[in-house]
Amino acid sequence: MNTHAPISRTATHARVLSRSVVLLVAVALAAAACVRTNPPTDVGNPVAASSPSTTQPQPAPTTPVSASLAYTQDLKPIFDSDCVVCHGGSRPTAGYSMSTYAGVMRDVVAGNPNSRLVIWTQPGGTMYGFWTGNAAQKAAMVRQWVVSNNAAQSR
Ligand code: HEC
Repeated sequence: MNTHAPISRTATHARVLSRSVVLLVAVALAAAACVRTNPPTDVGNPVAASSPSTTQPQPAPTTPVSASLAYTQDLKPIFDSDCVVCHGGSRPTAGYSMSTYAGVMRDVVAGNPNSRLVIWTQPGGTMYGFWTGNAAQKAAMVRQWVVSNNAAQSR
């Protein structure tokens, strides 16, 4: 008789314990869920207000770099590698020397997309095939430099 009492008491105790553990876990989960769902709604507004200002400056730095091409920094290197072999030296082909800014400018009217240098170097143009590597990009650079950047010498 004495041996049964403690067992049943421990059993009840264990059942109560496990029930309270379940309760505790449930309360903890609910609390965690509350904590987890509350901050986004509280911090939501400042984050939403500041996120457009952090995403806006990102495209900005890449735009000015390509928006201001200059002869010395951007065009001379590709002319030297792809064009000067013929359009340079003491007897440049077609009498057109591309080894200096003044020489290149003979076929350029700043801002004019019909400049001979632009026409001849675009896809379908007679000189387009002499671009090495990314020909389309180099052709686009020449066009942008002449048309949008007024054939600037340097920046
Ligand atoms: C293999 C030699 C050669 C290379 C390399 C070459 N050209 Fe030419 N270029 C010529 C020849 C030849 C002509 C004349 C073609 C004609 O009159 O039909 C010419 C003509 C031109 C003209 C017209 C000149 C004028 O006023 O009559 C331009 C502009 C020109 N080239 C730009 C370029 C550019 C830019 C490059 C570099 C991508 C280049 N060329 C690379 C041989 C070359």
